[in-house]
Amino acid sequence: MERDLDPEEFRLYHDLIHRLTGIHYPADKRSLLSNRLRRRLRATGQMQYLAYLAHIQMPSQHVELQDFLDSITTNETYFFRCPRHWELFKEWAKAQVGLPETKRHGLRIWSAASSTGAEAYTILICLEQVLGEAFGGIRVEVLGTDLSQSVLTEARQGIYRPYALSQTPLEIQRRYFKQIDTEHFQIAPRLQPFITFKQHNLMNVLPNRTFDFVFLRNVMIYFDRPSKERVLSNMRSVLRPGGMLLVGESESLLNITHQLTYLHPSLFQEPLPVKAPVRA
Ligand SMILES: C[S@@+](CC[C@H](N)C(=O)[O-])C[C@H]1O[C@@H](n2cnc3c(N)ncnc32)[C@H](O)[C@@H]1O
Repeated sequence: MERDLDPEEFRLYHDLIHRLTGIHYPADKRSLLSNRLRRRLRATGQMQYLAYLAHIQMPSQHVELQDFLDSITTNETYFFRCPRHWELFKEWAKAQVGLPETKRHGLRIWSAASSTGAEAYTILICLEQVLGEAFGGIRVEVLGTDLSQSVLTEARQGIYRPYALSQTPLEIQRRYFKQIDTEHFQIAPRLQPFITFKQHNLMNVLPNRTFDFVFLRNVMIYFDRPSKERVLSNMRSVLRPGGMLLVGESESLLNITHQLTYLHPSLFQEPLPVKAPVRA
């Protein structure tokens, strides 16, 4: 297939992607989507965009549907992305030491669009910097989730190319990474028991979980307003009262309906319950 999607084909793909993931492909990204699709058409031997669209919606083609979803997502990530955010996170972590909730259940943190895991491992590195070895005895659990299975496979392996480390201070590179060859670095295996990676679609509520801090960075840029509102409402159902939500630095929640409290640029808090006045 040489040509790009025509406007009607683009509309059909747009609607399917939006229904399944909340991602909104604007019309000026028609060529980008066409390029991404061409790779899947070649891989599956399909000749036509519409034939491939019908193919991935057949119940027997759930594996190809997943490969399709993997191919239409943008997975750019790297360690220590946006240094200001990591300073905010470390301040927050320091303030949790000694709190009764921290003693009771430790720290539960979610990297909610984790891509290949750089953000989730940066969380652990920062916690170790603040809390010390073995996190000062505090139980730490990090969950990394993403829609794309291929990035989750990479996240579990914990092997990164130099680009992912380009913003990582040298002394941290030395301490937390082992160079395998010129192009690959392995994250310290001792961090891996504190992280779980699993697939999750942000359009759904993550069941049976509560978090103290959620990273939701650089994913809402791909969503339209109703999808953003849906994701934020899903976040609220897993944040503990007083829990934090951090969004990407280019992601404004202006004109988006939500009940979170604004604390700093990018940082929001789930409100604490209002205490009833004590009667005399
Ligand atoms: C640009 S990466 C951001 C990675 C990381 N949070 C960061 O800031 O470096 C966006 C990720 O969001 C994921 N994503 C997109 N739509 C999603 C959805 N509906 N549910 C879960 N993950 C989604 C993509 O697969 C991609 O890996």
